[in-house]
Amino acid sequence: MLQSLRSVLAIPAAYNLWWNVVGGPAFAKVLVREYLQPRVGARILEIGCGPGTIVGYLPQVEYLGFDLSSKYIEMARKRFPQAQFVCERVSQFSPAQQQSFDTVLALGVVHHLDDREARQLFQIAYDALKSGGKLITVDGVWTNDQSPAARWLLARDRGEYVRNEGEYVNIASQVFANVRASVRHDLIRIPYSHLILECVRR
Ligand SMILES: C[S@@+](CC[C@H](N)C(=O)[O-])C[C@H]1O[C@@H](n2cnc3c(N)ncnc32)[C@H](O)[C@@H]1O
Repeated sequence: MLQSLRSVLAIPAAYNLWWNVVGGPAFAKVLVREYLQPRVGARILEIGCGPGTIVGYLPQVEYLGFDLSSKYIEMARKRFPQAQFVCERVSQFSPAQQQSFDTVLALGVVHHLDDREARQLFQIAYDALKSGGKLITVDGVWTNDQSPAARWLLARDRGEYVRNEGEYVNIASQVFANVRASVRHDLIRIPYSHLILECVRR
């Protein structure tokens, strides 16, 4: 049953439906208002952009997203022709323009990556960011104070590398000197715990 839900979520339309049911739109608004705070004209890179959903919540920006799923990228291009999308995986991506992005996003991605590829993600973000620019990651996290329901759901996540706060921060800190972590239990409608990392390039 859960295995079939995971396969269904690989279909872009099904993923979008799931995202709406669990409260994705409210989550995106909180993320943009409290963490991204994008300015018009900012340059934004999204790693593991899926169907590009966050673009619908951004002001007019210069956006580049990449993802390993060609199905997600195809849908993203149809939904947001004003943005740029590339089909690529983290371990193979090399941004043409280094130090040119104001913000890098990786929403629900790091917990899909083993430690080696996760470190590569942080390095890609670091290289892509201007001085003073910020990487924001959001991922499911193990905590001591989460509900049994949240633990049950996290254990069944499609991502095979859900970590605790210290483990995520440790990987990020191998690349960024300035890492701020916040745990949130209130971002979506179902019981779930998220870790938000804000990593600033000095
Ligand atoms: C939970 S989805 C999040 C999608 C999107 N960021 C969002 O917030 O809707 C995780 C995404 O990471 C992508 N992904 C997983 N492993 C990846 C890798 N190694 N390289 C690039 N993308 C990857 C998946 O294809 C999927 O689109």
